[in-house]
Amino acid sequence: MPASPELSKNRTILAAAALLLCGCEGVQSALEPAGPHAASIARIWWAMFWGACAVLLLVTSLALYAFIRSPQRRERTRPDRIILAGGVALPVVTLTALLAYGVHAMASLRTLAEDAIEIEVVGNRWWWDVHYLGEDGEVIRTANEIRVPAGRAVLLSLRSNDVIHSFWVPSLAGKMDLIPGRTNRLIIQADRPGVYRGQCAEYCGAQHARMGMHVIAERPADFSVWLDRQRAPATVPGDESMLRGRQAFVQRCAGCHTVRGTSEARSAGPDLTHLASREFIGAGTLPNNRENLLAFIARTQELKPGSAMPSQGDLDPVALESIVAYLESLH
Ligand code: CUA
Repeated sequence: MPASPELSKNRTILAAAALLLCGCEGVQSALEPAGPHAASIARIWWAMFWGACAVLLLVTSLALYAFIRSPQRRERTRPDRIILAGGVALPVVTLTALLAYGVHAMASLRTLAEDAIEIEVVGNRWWWDVHYLGEDGEVIRTANEIRVPAGRAVLLSLRSNDVIHSFWVPSLAGKMDLIPGRTNRLIIQADRPGVYRGQCAEYCGAQHARMGMHVIAERPADFSVWLDRQRAPATVPGDESMLRGRQAFVQRCAGCHTVRGTSEARSAGPDLTHLASREFIGAGTLPNNRENLLAFIARTQELKPGSAMPSQGDLDPVALESIVAYLESLH
């Protein structure tokens, strides 16, 4: 049934309001930089914006002047001079200055501090596999949330397991593609603790919009505590019902998901060893809580259609509840 004109008008107003409010929230904006690299990009943006304003003002003033000046003066104008000044000299000077500024800013984006930590991020349809690298290889593996120490540079090695994705956390750095068969590098840095939302910025299929991620910057001491906790394998639950949850998890989920200390390493789905320490599930799709976990496991294909994980709606409710209780214990 077609919507009434009143209803569709209300919908339009609602959609416009939602868009405006999104803009006000202050997240995912390249114009709200929280680190040196993003700040440098924001400066280029503002330089181009004010430069464009100046050019617009100049051109508009000249056009108005051409209209209002007297016919006698118009006769005396040399068009070749105007073309040389406005069509050649001005663009050459402006674009050369902008190019020099851009090249200088880009070089600063590639300079890596000596104490930088290295993290590998692998794009999958539609989630982010995150590996923290130490001197002797992988230290920990997590997904969709990247914790970093505030004030320290982080070198991201970006790869893809399937199609082209793009890593973009606007408050921290520019975009960088994840391309199958090659490794790209991106440096991010957050100056202060906070949660910075990011998003896959290259269309990669049905759930591209739900391929979000969060960078959580913490004080260095808190980051070390977090890292130590993540290094540890999952604790083995003490009570009987939780053990049943663990068993049900191994039977149903361990073919794709790893819980270190519980099941063999698998990489088809996100590592869940410390799932309860994450803020979101489904790559930024839903806040991590009991209701959402229950819903996401039972109705995966409704909440994230096309994702590799089948809905587990056929699980008996007791087993489902016990799996969720077990997952919630994985701090
Ligand atoms: Cu991954 Cu879009």
